[in-house]
Amino acid sequence: MAQYHQFDALVVGAGGAGLMSALYASKAVKTAVISKLYPTRSHTGTAQGGIAAALGNMEPDKWEWHAYDTVKGGDFLSDQDAVDILCREAIDAVIDLEHMGLPFDRTREGKISQRRFGGHTNNETKQPVMRACHAADRTGHMILQTLYQQCIKNDVRFFDEFQMVDLIIEDNTCRGVVAVELRTGEMHVFHAKAVMLATGGFGKMWRITSNAHSLTGDGPSIILQHNLPLEDMEFFQFHPTGIYRMGILLSEAARGEGAVFINGKGERFMTRYAPTMKDLASRDVCSRSIYKEVRAGNGVNGKDYVYMDFRPDQINKYFEADGSPRRVDAAYIEQRLPDILEFVRVYMGIDPISEPVPIQPTAHYAMGGIPTDLDARVLADEKGTVVNGLFAAGEVACVSVHGANRLGTNSLVDLVVYGRRGGVAMADYAKQAQFLPIAQNAHEAAEAAMNNLRNNHGKEKAGQIRKDLQMHMDENVGVFRTRAGLEMAIEEIHGYQARYKNLHIDDTGLRWNTDLMEAWELGNLLSLAEVTAISALARTESRGAHYREDYPNRDDQNFLKHSLTWTNGQQRIAYKPVHMGRYEPTERKY
Ligand code: FUM
Repeated sequence: MAQYHQFDALVVGAGGAGLMSALYASKAVKTAVISKLYPTRSHTGTAQGGIAAALGNMEPDKWEWHAYDTVKGGDFLSDQDAVDILCREAIDAVIDLEHMGLPFDRTREGKISQRRFGGHTNNETKQPVMRACHAADRTGHMILQTLYQQCIKNDVRFFDEFQMVDLIIEDNTCRGVVAVELRTGEMHVFHAKAVMLATGGFGKMWRITSNAHSLTGDGPSIILQHNLPLEDMEFFQFHPTGIYRMGILLSEAARGEGAVFINGKGERFMTRYAPTMKDLASRDVCSRSIYKEVRAGNGVNGKDYVYMDFRPDQINKYFEADGSPRRVDAAYIEQRLPDILEFVRVYMGIDPISEPVPIQPTAHYAMGGIPTDLDARVLADEKGTVVNGLFAAGEVACVSVHGANRLGTNSLVDLVVYGRRGGVAMADYAKQAQFLPIAQNAHEAAEAAMNNLRNNHGKEKAGQIRKDLQMHMDENVGVFRTRAGLEMAIEEIHGYQARYKNLHIDDTGLRWNTDLMEAWELGNLLSLAEVTAISALARTESRGAHYREDYPNRDDQNFLKHSLTWTNGQQRIAYKPVHMGRYEPTERKY
């Protein structure tokens, strides 16, 4: 037996995209959110440095410059119609958040304060522009709190700590969701006219990652199980500044405030790799440059890390060398970057005001995901067939604005702009749609799969398989890739999938069975690792975050196109064209 619920609009996931879509859907129809976490623990809360919008509060800026930077940053794989919407609507979306009560930092005149971030430029001078609106280095946290309060005010119904385990899709129409209530282990069926997937990313397939433990790709994995494709899965971003060996994010805002990378010889090496943007080049360029230094023997103490230097006296020397009139002191750095200074003090036991900080690239963000159109409707194939009643927004979706590499601060814009569009679109859809019948036993397949897993008495432990997977993904599907490495990764992943069938779950109970749920999540990570490696092997070029050492150049003739990959039953890869616009592909120089 399963408990039954009915809502016009159902959102899965309570991060920024989920809450924004729930808020906008709830203005018109009866709306609920289910989330495997308590909503304010969602990963949006860890987004640090800012949200991009060409407000021009500090210096001249235009949304068209933001659009060009986004397309160039994405190595020309972004759909330019989607990018125009993103950058134009970002301005209004930020003002919308401000009116909801988000406590942005302010300029002396009381305007929203903005700072520099990688890849964001004044297109005329080519110099970094202040475009990232921020609340210290806790911008995502503030967005999450603000949206949650607004949803409560708007009577959105929350089902906290409910794990989606299946979608109910019949005749190409989504009719609801099957979920497990984690507290009791009971099954619930949510019958809905419109379902929004906003389940976030899947960075836990790598060992060094900024992603929370919960980011296991549940939404996209269920999409694959329903014979639907994922788009551009070969493109996963490695953020250059994770705390060494832990991967915890140290915001790019640090470099926006003047911090720089230095190698083991004390050299500011980004001047060699990106003479104009230097340490504020895009993330793919910075991450590769760090590893090139390490490979050249210039890591600190011969190891696989370099330093980020945010000592105020050093920052001032770099400003002087760059001919910048800016100067900072310790009080300023403490005020602008309080959280990351604390992370370094707590996790590393060092003080970044007086010592440089060991960092290394960390798996951070999926550019690929569930294919959608401009109103967040999920697409079933390369022809653009819409899956009725199914929507996706935020990191889980691929609309595609980020192309082959996302610019910092564009994820928060994506989730508010496309979360809002998706919320409006699902309400419009739900207003004219009927509740379509669902079978009485709609939950039984998912329940049986869960029971089989729970009662499995094999020999393998999920934790060990996860560790092995993460190690291989770091080695072979990381910043640098080759055919041999990717082929080996696919073979290894198939081996882990075989071992997964032989799992042993210690806890056979129903209540709060984290042993079971983590094993189920591992199954999702394995599917997504497989699809990532398969898509990466097929793309024999280098573009954005996907760098093939055996194909080091971008190949627009053969690969200016999005991949769509299916893995359930018969594996298939198809391609569809990029939506071009004002910007023709050019060589990317920073
Ligand atoms: O560096 C950061 O603060 C991260 C921002 C982002 O991923 O957009």
